[in-house]
Amino acid sequence: MRIIRSINLLRNELKAVRSKNQTIGFVPTMGAFHEGHFSLMRKARRDNDIVVVSVFVNPTQFGPHEDFKKYPRQIKIDELFAKKEKVDIIFYPSAEKMYQPGYLTYVNVTNISKVLCGRSRPNHFNGVATVVSKLINITEPDVMYLGQKDAQQAAIIKAMVKDLNFNVRIKICPIVREKNGLAMSSRNSYLSQKQRDEAPILYKSLVGAKNKILSGKTSSKSIINWIDSNIKDNSSGIVDYIECVNADTLDPITKIKGRIMIAIAVKFGKTRLIDNIVFHSR
Ligand code: PAJ
Repeated sequence: MRIIRSINLLRNELKAVRSKNQTIGFVPTMGAFHEGHFSLMRKARRDNDIVVVSVFVNPTQFGPHEDFKKYPRQIKIDELFAKKEKVDIIFYPSAEKMYQPGYLTYVNVTNISKVLCGRSRPNHFNGVATVVSKLINITEPDVMYLGQKDAQQAAIIKAMVKDLNFNVRIKICPIVREKNGLAMSSRNSYLSQKQRDEAPILYKSLVGAKNKILSGKTSSKSIINWIDSNIKDNSSGIVDYIECVNADTLDPITKIKGRIMIAIAVKFGKTRLIDNIVFHSR
């Protein structure tokens, strides 16, 4: 496995790969690997000749009061993990090279960047769309692997790839969870023991809501209220949003019907956790 920091060097390496007709699977990440990341690497490994993983804590997707500075950075440990997953190349660029002085260009996927997480993180998805565009242009992968954990991010990147004619296929991989249901996240390391014990309430509430819907409940409002009370009654979490949306368009729905997603964001202290569940209602 190689760690490549230079954009040009990576380009040259991958040019050679493509000239041998080998396929490139690409997993963009911000590092601090966990089983969620490994699941994407394993899928990429199974499907492709060469697996490239980028590790870049992207400054443009963090708000001014967010955790950019304290976001976990552990490239040496990540390197060992990635080796174990038989990754071929870690692309580990510097912020200075990715955003050179005079940098001007941002990608804005309208509408779906403004809902759900976009309300409390106004420029977040522009930063994500911008860096992912750059990473696609640099690696030119055959397939890019993303996690359902960040469902809105996945929907935005899918729309961007379609709208801007990027020549890459996208595979969305299922959410990997702890045994207690907590969705794995690099940010879980911020949680205190008490918060860690409470945080599985997110997934428990999503499953509870799904069961209610499958047994006939159709009002989004009453489902949202039930999740809200369940979280308030059983944890110190402060709800940012709870929404029932169409799983494909992310449009809010009032009467539950078809393939839906229930998406939630809850703050435990300063740590904001997100989770979601997608299923066919009746
Ligand atoms: P990061 O949070 O490191 O996540 C990298 C990829 O891992 C994303 O596609 C994310 O959805 C996926 N992932 C995270 N936790 C997961 C889990 N529990 N189960 C399954 N997949 C999971 O998302 C980002 O980085 C950045 O926004 C990025 C796309 C790299 C752009 O900077």
